[in-house]
Amino acid sequence: SAAEKQGHDWFMRKEIFEQPKAVADTLLGRWSDRGELVLDELRISPEELRRINKIVIVACGSSFYAGMVAKYAIEHWTRVACEVELASEFRYRDPIIDPMTLVVTISQSGETADTLMAIRHAREQQARVIAICNTNGATIPRESDAVIYTHAGPEIGVASTKGFLTQVVACYLLGLYLAQVRGMKYGDEVHAIVDELNSMPDKIQAVLDGIEPVYKLARKMAMSEDAVFFLGRHVGYPVALEGALKLKEIAYLHAEGFAAGELKHGPIAVIEQDTPVFVVVPPEGRDQLHDKVVSNIEEIRARGARTIVLAEEGDAAAESFADMVIPLPKCSTLLQPLVAAVPLQAFACELATAKGHDVDQPRNLAKSVTVE
Ligand code: G6P
Repeated sequence: SAAEKQGHDWFMRKEIFEQPKAVADTLLGRWSDRGELVLDELRISPEELRRINKIVIVACGSSFYAGMVAKYAIEHWTRVACEVELASEFRYRDPIIDPMTLVVTISQSGETADTLMAIRHAREQQARVIAICNTNGATIPRESDAVIYTHAGPEIGVASTKGFLTQVVACYLLGLYLAQVRGMKYGDEVHAIVDELNSMPDKIQAVLDGIEPVYKLARKMAMSEDAVFFLGRHVGYPVALEGALKLKEIAYLHAEGFAAGELKHGPIAVIEQDTPVFVVVPPEGRDQLHDKVVSNIEEIRARGARTIVLAEEGDAAAESFADMVIPLPKCSTLLQPLVAAVPLQAFACELATAKGHDVDQPRNLAKSVTVE
């Protein structure tokens, strides 16, 4: 009913707008007075967590992309090798897992069949399993050694939004916690990230407050059946994949995400006059990633692409090659997905609405896929 959607046309749109609160709730109560991260629900002892020598993240759909984002942060903070794998591939390829492997499953519903089978397989090999889940008492958390709940509240729209964002946050908490128990000495960096995490709800809200130009673009693009491409690099790469998935799921458009560094290995061949390409630009930093992505924008634009550029506000270099700029609040590279994913969700939601599709229940898709 309209009341349940709190005045929004779709649950998905309501859930997009709930993200500042969902992220804040997922962060709530995680810090002790001494400034330490507490994850009391992790019933795996610090000793055991110190022995872990490999992390394998297993998930499906948007949850898999949240895992891809998390890998960058977890390896950076913990220096433990972290793989991310589709649950449907994991158990059919004889993966190397043992009691020193930490398997992290990510599932909004906690009922996805492939993910459940993956943890059963992992536990048979004596691996420790931590679930990141949004649904209290679901099968996946029940069959795991421990669970970190995302506190997004019920997600009804089939296409995940607040589920995805809170999964990234929960994975980051886990990564920071592992770094803490393993005695990593990053001091300032970790504290800065913790402070920044706490500032993310306001930044997500700022993106939502400025969403109208994104809606306008979506309504304009709803007239066309053109394929839409998404480019990103580093954590922006899974954001690009997630942006493309949203369009496929609810707008039924051909959409693909690519790693910007792969442009010359194929994707650039499909760029034609007026091909719409969203580009997620990393914040300017020491590592040149920003400049490399900006040159990618220049390259595709020279071939006629219509560039829709998601870049930090005031990023003049990125703006100079943009047909349209979607400004993002300032944040560090690792946290940028929490703001960059939001306009892409809103874009897909508005475009699908303009096309007249049922956004909450897209054709052929189910909220939770409980069969293989
Ligand atoms: C379905 C949903 C997606 C979701 C995926 C994984 O495909 O439509 O939105 O990302 O399942 O679901 P899970 O509940 O395991 O996160």
